[in-house]
Amino acid sequence: MHDERWDRLTQAADALRERLEVSPRVAITLGSGLSDGFGLPVGGARIPCGEIPGFPVPTVAGHTGEFWSGRIGEVPVLLQRGRVHFYEGRTLDEVTFATRLFAVLGVKVLIVTNASGAIRPDLRAGDLVLITDHINMLGANPLHGANLDPLGPRFPDMSSAYTPRLRAIAHAAADAEGIQLKEGVYVATLGPSYETPAEIRSFRALGADLVGMSTVPEVIAAAHAGMEVLGISLATNLAAGVDPNAALSHEEVIETTKRKGAEMRRLLLAVLPRL
Ligand code: HPA
Repeated sequence: MHDERWDRLTQAADALRERLEVSPRVAITLGSGLSDGFGLPVGGARIPCGEIPGFPVPTVAGHTGEFWSGRIGEVPVLLQRGRVHFYEGRTLDEVTFATRLFAVLGVKVLIVTNASGAIRPDLRAGDLVLITDHINMLGANPLHGANLDPLGPRFPDMSSAYTPRLRAIAHAAADAEGIQLKEGVYVATLGPSYETPAEIRSFRALGADLVGMSTVPEVIAAAHAGMEVLGISLATNLAAGVDPNAALSHEEVIETTKRKGAEMRRLLLAVLPRL
């Protein structure tokens, strides 16, 4: 069946491919504020999202919206700096456009980073947490609607979406760098309001350790397309009600991201050569 979503993806992939200096094997989607912490590697090519036909351009302040492609060490990488979120009013087709574009370009490994609120009591603001699994509370799934058969199956398995091989690599890289890397289950909410304490208590009862407003659609789309996924979250704050005396603010999220962005970068750079 003809699907215009596939046409849009292949057109965007053709346009992007012409601008790439390498054929990327790894894509890295950098979360809120983490693009700045990662910085731009030396050399390579920068491609603003707006120059890719059909690409949904991010609108949120602090999400710059560009790709960088090149080699980091030996590894051909495509960096996504800034992403679109469901809470912006975008469709999940738009939210996962870049992820699917990666698949069409032949990317095998997707690394996603995000900022999250810490639900589990032993987690602290500033912790780096390896995502082991997720809970989708968005009330929507990017695979809803006709299946994009060229990408993957109608009913994809999600049993090991956060690939065990990559989780082991992340731990090895963290150990080698002397970085503490905890583990946790991430629950995605729509946002943009932060959660209530009652919601956080209920998520905790469900088995969630971290809460955020991104990542889950991208990981579902990546798993559908057969990509391996590594998810690393920066717990930027305690989730609502975890500290009964604290209020949540976007400023705290930004502040923690600035403070710990370099450590996330160091971890990612140590992961890449091990992939
Ligand atoms: N809740 C949801 N999303 C977030 C949070 C949070 O506490 N912190 C950073 N992103």
